[in-house]
Amino acid sequence: MASAKMIFVVMFTATRLASRSSRRSPLKTNATLVHRASCAWGSWFVLLIAIAAPFARAQTSSAGPDDQVVRQRVETLLKEITLEEKMGQLSQLFAFGPQKDIDEAVTKGQVGSLLFVTDPVEINRLQHLAIEGTPHHVPLIFGFDVIHGFRTIFPVPLAMAASWDPAMVIRSQSIAAQEARSVGIDWAFAPMLDIARDPRWGRMVEGAGEDPYLGSAMAAAQVRGFQGQYIGSPDHILACMKHFAGYGAAEGGRDYDASNIPESQLYNVYLPPFHAAVKAGVGSAMSAYMDLNDVPATGNRWLLQDVLREQWHFTGFVVSDANAVKSLENHGFAKDLSEAALHAFHAGVNMEMAIGFTAYSRSLPAAVQKGQITEQQIEAAVRPILEMKIRLGLFEHPYVDAARSAQILASPDHRIAARLAAERSAVLLRNEGNLLPLNKGSYKSVAVLGPLADSQLDTLGSWAFQQDLPETVTLLAGLRNKLGSQTKLSYAPGVQIGRKFPSFFDQIFHLKAPTPWTAEQAKQEVSKAVSLANSSDLAVLVLGEAQNMSGEAASRESLELPGQEEQLLEAVVATGKPVVLILLNGRPLNIQWAAGHVPAILEAWYPGTQGGNAMANLLFGDAVPGGKLPFAWPRDVGQLPIQYAHNTTQAPENQGKRYWDEESTPLFPFGYGLSYSTFRFSDLKLSRAQLKPGETVGVTFDVENTGAAEGDEVAQLYIHQRSGSASRPVRELKGFERVSLSAHAKKTLHMSLGKEELSYWSSAKKAWVQEPAAFDVWVGGNSDATVHSSFAVVQ
Ligand code: NOJ
Repeated sequence: MASAKMIFVVMFTATRLASRSSRRSPLKTNATLVHRASCAWGSWFVLLIAIAAPFARAQTSSAGPDDQVVRQRVETLLKEITLEEKMGQLSQLFAFGPQKDIDEAVTKGQVGSLLFVTDPVEINRLQHLAIEGTPHHVPLIFGFDVIHGFRTIFPVPLAMAASWDPAMVIRSQSIAAQEARSVGIDWAFAPMLDIARDPRWGRMVEGAGEDPYLGSAMAAAQVRGFQGQYIGSPDHILACMKHFAGYGAAEGGRDYDASNIPESQLYNVYLPPFHAAVKAGVGSAMSAYMDLNDVPATGNRWLLQDVLREQWHFTGFVVSDANAVKSLENHGFAKDLSEAALHAFHAGVNMEMAIGFTAYSRSLPAAVQKGQITEQQIEAAVRPILEMKIRLGLFEHPYVDAARSAQILASPDHRIAARLAAERSAVLLRNEGNLLPLNKGSYKSVAVLGPLADSQLDTLGSWAFQQDLPETVTLLAGLRNKLGSQTKLSYAPGVQIGRKFPSFFDQIFHLKAPTPWTAEQAKQEVSKAVSLANSSDLAVLVLGEAQNMSGEAASRESLELPGQEEQLLEAVVATGKPVVLILLNGRPLNIQWAAGHVPAILEAWYPGTQGGNAMANLLFGDAVPGGKLPFAWPRDVGQLPIQYAHNTTQAPENQGKRYWDEESTPLFPFGYGLSYSTFRFSDLKLSRAQLKPGETVGVTFDVENTGAAEGDEVAQLYIHQRSGSASRPVRELKGFERVSLSAHAKKTLHMSLGKEELSYWSSAKKAWVQEPAAFDVWVGGNSDATVHSSFAVVQ
């Protein structure tokens, strides 16, 4: 209690100080989508970091450099550097360890950026080559996939979205940024903002799920976390929104396959998180791999110019996804490498990311000579890249201090933040008879079972490369830490799981699949697990997917629990012992049987470095679950795609019976999740019954903890437009707030609906419209909320 109070005092003071001294960011941070509380935590965190980090590489003033000054410096530089150097800035290469050809390219100024170098000593060495070797000393910018942490691994992005807590997301990504920056990484290839409505797609794990409103809030929070209050904030890094755009709609959920997205879905569903990131000041964007409506995203001028630059006024730079420019040939879009480079360049890709060599380096010099590209166009492409290097302070502070970095990476505070993030991200799906929270004294022996129960790598999830694996706390280790020697813990994996086709990440990182058990061993392992359950007072099963089953190139055609996990689960439940099922996964799985037979199910996602401690805290009530699903959880793969925000069409009363062989409703609705208490929503009041386009209606309601325990609830606000020039979804999320309430406490919440929330892209009018219509409003704890009111927009 004392420490919570202290944190509050520090936070309060820091927030006031920060707000007194705050000035607008040069890239105008619009954080309207960031939860109010984020501002407090964000400022608090930024301030603490500013105080604690006097030796940060990017030493800039508290408000960032002046726009005019930065632009002037870019123009001066452009006058000084040669055309070759300018073109060099447009190439980015993967560097896996020291390579002679990369050293040479750096020294000749043929490359402006490297990715995948993570050792501060190596980064300094390469930076020396760039600065001392080239005539005009232009530093390299180092990029890396800092997706959910660098050394300290936070829960995967899908999990962080399930927290419905943007303030926590800001804090987590700020820590990731600080750790990365300390080793010399200036640029994260995150956040991934692809809406995913087909969980067969493996990269759902990297995003915020199915909803554009939640996705936009998470986008803004992540940009703020990575970049701080402005680009170049001490100890922060440049963010890169990806994959622009539509990658999550891959046909059949097959990664890299084409996306065909109708215009209204693009504008209303797939693009809003990107737009939110631009409004939050994101400094770079990554063009996606796939064809969008037959035009590859990396050669798509409509996306990269018309939408990104003209409609949204994005002033940062665009990097291609890895080899995506060269790949324009594979798409049958460019006839050869030179045409691929020309298409991408003219579409608006400033920098090409590639392995080995770039199409730009091979083709742009000749294209300039032939007059296909002018020097002015090359300069226009380089300008935002140089601008970001200046803003990040790379010209003044190009090198890092490896000793300081070691201290930052070891920070115990970062581990605490990771544990809190994992606790806030978990979603309690079922808790029959209030089995949870468990009472420590009630269980003398606990069987911890399942192939993921003691797997450090699988506790982290994909896109974790620089973690300290030995310090990763598995579920088994977390329970051991919690229960000590008073409780007898036994462990058995029970089954083995694996991919049919290996992941290319396994090959890159030399991860060897374990030797498969023989049929006899497999039988023995299951019986061992079942007999441990039989001889214990409680069984905790940790099932789901291994980390390489979600992520890039990790799509699957089924949603079943992999391997023999279902059989193990059913056999353990058949023992009659109380069973808690913990799921590790990056997508919903078919858990229909479990949802009817396992008393307690906790969705832990891939919870990160401190995952085991976090889950143990949740199981034993030292932390309270309060996460909510960022997608509608399907019953089975055959229902896909299924999302809560569908349109009402013919025979809406049969919405749940669209199939004759299965319900057509999800197993759990979007926004669903339990806590250790119950909540009631009431007293929904609107500030007016009618409003004109452009006006705002205030929404006020009460949320009350009706149970005898403390609990967390995410209050959610949904609307439905009853008529208009196009059909609107049956419900759309338009506001949320996560609240912690002690037993019987009540809180009044205030939200509002204005032009932004009440407008949409009409495919009939080919425009953003706010139309006169009646609107329904619901508030509640998930997308089936029933507390209702209505209002009308009138001309
Ligand atoms: C390919 C992935 O699609 C992208 O998300 C990632 O940032 C780059 N590789 C760099 O690793």
